[in-house]
Amino acid sequence: MIIVANWKAYIDDFEKAKKLFAISKRIARASKNKIILAIPAPFIGAFAVKNKTKVAFSAQDVSLTTGGASTGEITAQAYSAVGATYAIIGHSERRRAGDDYSVVANKLAHAITHGLTPILCVGEQERDSEGKYLSSVREQIVTALEPLTQKERTEIIVAYEPIWAIGIDPTGVIAPNDLTEMVLYIRKVLAELLPGKSSAHSLVLYGGSVEQGGIRALAANSGVDGFLVGRSSVDPHTFSALVKQLD
Ligand code: PGA
Repeated sequence: MIIVANWKAYIDDFEKAKKLFAISKRIARASKNKIILAIPAPFIGAFAVKNKTKVAFSAQDVSLTTGGASTGEITAQAYSAVGATYAIIGHSERRRAGDDYSVVANKLAHAITHGLTPILCVGEQERDSEGKYLSSVREQIVTALEPLTQKERTEIIVAYEPIWAIGIDPTGVIAPNDLTEMVLYIRKVLAELLPGKSSAHSLVLYGGSVEQGGIRALAANSGVDGFLVGRSSVDPHTFSALVKQLD
């Protein structure tokens, strides 16, 4: 399984970051799961350059610009230059800050061009009884992938992150059955967009209040390939316990 630790902006103290990185490396060494650290950009710069360990690094976002006169922006190329190999694109916290469908599509393209594997986040605002949540997820995937070439589409990892279940104030917890349904649905949408049978190899992750208590049930029969973990990834004990649940 893949476990993406999304530190978001929870960690802004360098000593804490170093400690958490050291522990994450230890966890990765002892685990058969793949650990990807999606950590604030300066910490990627500090840790990824000389990284010879099993952990990989992900940008939490990339700039829409590809360089030039754009003060404050961090391009996909810059992330790649210091050793990041993944990029989260379209996280709901970025969509809320203004990333619309076209921004997400362009960022995906930049990430791929510069050798970053995109982790495309999709998820509905709320669950409804008419199945609108399914079409909302479909729309997010279609608008993101359609501008890409067939080959580029095969490189995307999709992370299903229902907005109602993520962050510091979730209003619900996903049931394993609902996750199974959504993973199947996402695979169906991907099958329509990817060439031949290549969508069978696409990775689908889940994110949203993933905790050590529920992770095993979510992993068991849902068909997910891994998890995107926010809050539970910034406490060493919780994170370690959570990874162990999947070993
Ligand atoms: P959470 O965050 O685990 O804190 O809900 C997940 C995410 O937003 O990626």
